[in-house]
Amino acid sequence: MLFTKKTLSDIDLKDKQIVLRVDYNVPLRDQDGRQVVADDYRIRMSLPTIKALLEQRCSIVILSHLGRPRGKVVPELSLRPAVERLGQLLEQEVKFVDNCVSDEATKAAESLEPGQIVVLENTRFHYQEEADEQEFAKQLASYGEVFVQDCFGVVHREHASIHAVAKFLPAVAGLLVEREVRQITKATTHPKRPLVLVVGGAKIQTKIALLEHLIPKTQKLIIGGAMANTFLKAQGYQVGKSLVDDSEIPTAKRVLAMCNESAVELLLPTADVAVADDVSPEAARRETLSSAVGPEEIILDIGQHSIDEFCKAIEGAGTIIWNGPVGMSEFNEFRHGTEAIAKKIVEGDSFSIVGGGDTAEFVASMDMMDQFSHVSTGGGSSLELMSGKSLPGIEALLDK
Ligand code: 3PG
Repeated sequence: MLFTKKTLSDIDLKDKQIVLRVDYNVPLRDQDGRQVVADDYRIRMSLPTIKALLEQRCSIVILSHLGRPRGKVVPELSLRPAVERLGQLLEQEVKFVDNCVSDEATKAAESLEPGQIVVLENTRFHYQEEADEQEFAKQLASYGEVFVQDCFGVVHREHASIHAVAKFLPAVAGLLVEREVRQITKATTHPKRPLVLVVGGAKIQTKIALLEHLIPKTQKLIIGGAMANTFLKAQGYQVGKSLVDDSEIPTAKRVLAMCNESAVELLLPTADVAVADDVSPEAARRETLSSAVGPEEIILDIGQHSIDEFCKAIEGAGTIIWNGPVGMSEFNEFRHGTEAIAKKIVEGDSFSIVGGGDTAEFVASMDMMDQFSHVSTGGGSSLELMSGKSLPGIEALLDK
């Protein structure tokens, strides 16, 4: 698949000092009173690039954000736990500087020896990062001779350490960015047919660009999750107290019309759904016909007949793109539908892409990451790429 930007193999890296932008925006948890990384997928996915650079005797200055501190120093959003995890995974010392634009950062960069790594503290502790400010970017660029972009999860943001920085150094894609773009565009531009698109989650609005872009290429569209409630209501079903956004009913009707025009087979949970009396982890699951949802009931998952229909539609797919759980998958009783879909997808030999965020988290919780063709490290970024949008952090890189 065509990747039009320069990558590690297009540039002389031998003995160079690299400014490497990664996405270590990872979940943290408390362990005996200190913060540790709760899910290291993004850190592990950055290792191939780091190792490739180390093989070239590079020294590496790593930049990342974590969370949304909005230009202030927020100690709970320090990159320290990620640095610790990176050191463990690489089995080598990783230095850390607690301010990414400081004399200390400059000194640390200047004194790096080949093969050494320093991580600089959260770029978003400075308001200039999100403002894509040139001077700030120039300072970050001054730490190295080549810029390597490997922060796929955040390449949709026009921020200084992702976008403006590329003006000041030769800028190329790292292995993760290259792989993400190749795999996702392989699935979205020339998908092996039939293409089955599985979309879930709460709001149609967040998925509408994806639907508009992919429906013309899709043979089967499966819609689950709370957004399916809005489609059901648009088709005249009673959905009780389920989450529905009435303002999205016209959008749902537009999607129904698009499917009709493109002769896409649309599957909604019209057979049955799983309902509860309240939205809580303890809520009991009851399955009911989709046409018989009571006025007080809340739809939290698809029912067994809908599961069977969805799974049948997945059989024989050439390509599957999956973005969004089909039920309230954070509650054990309401993850049956999403579990069944995940298992069904990997049963066949389709080219399967899982969008990041909630869906990737779910797949990780099932310990199934390796069973899909590609599980993206990006939530918003993978959604934008799948929607055919251009990504500022990739646009900024050198063309081949
Ligand atoms: C993510 O976790 O999706 C990325 O790191 C981007 O984070 P953001 O939405 O705060 O820009």
